[in-house]
Amino acid sequence: MKKISLTGIKPTGILHIGNYFGAIRPALELAGEYEARYFIADYHALNTVKDPKELSSLIRQVAAGWLAAGLDPEKTIFYRQSSIPETFELSTQLMAFTSKGLMNRAHAYKAAVQANTGRGEDPDTGINMGLFTYPVLMAADIILFDSDVVPVGKDQAQHVEMAQDIAQAVNFNYKQEVLKVPQAVVQDDVAVVPGLDGRKMSKSYGNTIPLFAPEKELRKLIMRIVTNSQGVEEPKDPETSQIYLLYRLFALPEEQEALAARYRAGGMGWGEAKEELFRVVNRELSPMRERFRGIMEEPGELDRILARGAEKARPIAARTVSRFRKAAGID
Ligand code: ADP
Ligand code: TRP
Repeated sequence: MKKISLTGIKPTGILHIGNYFGAIRPALELAGEYEARYFIADYHALNTVKDPKELSSLIRQVAAGWLAAGLDPEKTIFYRQSSIPETFELSTQLMAFTSKGLMNRAHAYKAAVQANTGRGEDPDTGINMGLFTYPVLMAADIILFDSDVVPVGKDQAQHVEMAQDIAQAVNFNYKQEVLKVPQAVVQDDVAVVPGLDGRKMSKSYGNTIPLFAPEKELRKLIMRIVTNSQGVEEPKDPETSQIYLLYRLFALPEEQEALAARYRAGGMGWGEAKEELFRVVNRELSPMRERFRGIMEEPGELDRILARGAEKARPIAARTVSRFRKAAGID
């Protein structure tokens, strides 16, 4: 029997190429080897996205994005967190086994408190209970589906460890394996994709290249990549140029070598390097963009795919919740 891989995607922004290379592609690769359960963590997004139109649109765009990137809903259970009410029952069950001290130590919460005190404000300013209990909801997402592995970025590894602690506390108390204890698979070998300004590409820096940007916009964004003041004739170092670092993600090995040689030889300006980058990025992204557009144009079909995913997911979820109820004496 295949082991289970599960991950959640928070719909808090439109997908960019950092998300694609850092999260989407590695997770889709795991979907061959594992039985994959991938979901849209819409209640996690609610902690920060309070505009209903925006949240609704992001949920659709992120779901469509995963499908356009190659997620096969026949082979993967693909659903919305909010369609699985068992998540919220398990979350309540797990609360009783989660110490408040554990939540105090969560990085995201601690960072928010630190930012507040740094500004001389009350430590609780702007922090809702959803942010404080975020790791419990995430533990419920994971444990509900008997996950063996959870592919996440480094920043999320602590949350998966908390899910382990919580599952173990339950099993220890009832002296039986009520819940499966998950493992994090930290993707630390994936490159950090640089943004337009050279910092890590991130929606919080406003330096992203959206994965499905129309061709014209894509071109404009690439032309905006910040470069140094080296002139056309000067030889250039490919390894320190973010144009080249991005190029490497999209170009064939022989194309990479050819462009690196042109960098070193001199005689090529930044504008030309950007044109070459645009060519390979657009070559790779245009089929995905077309699929994305097609999916977004058929909202009914997207809803059906997600509903079918929820249908497959709920019986699994119900079994976990009832295992807990039995063990706990609430049956
Ligand atoms: P953002 O930084 O834009 O807010 P998220 O934190 O929502 O992105 O990231 C979602 C996923 O995409 C995470 O698994 C994260 O590791 C990955 N990711 C985001 N930006 C990058 C990047 N620049 N390079 C590699 N992976 C990234
Ligand atoms: N917290 C994750 C993030 O910010 C998203 C997420 C929610 C998740 N539930 C999950 C990831 C369960 C893995 C497993 O990226």
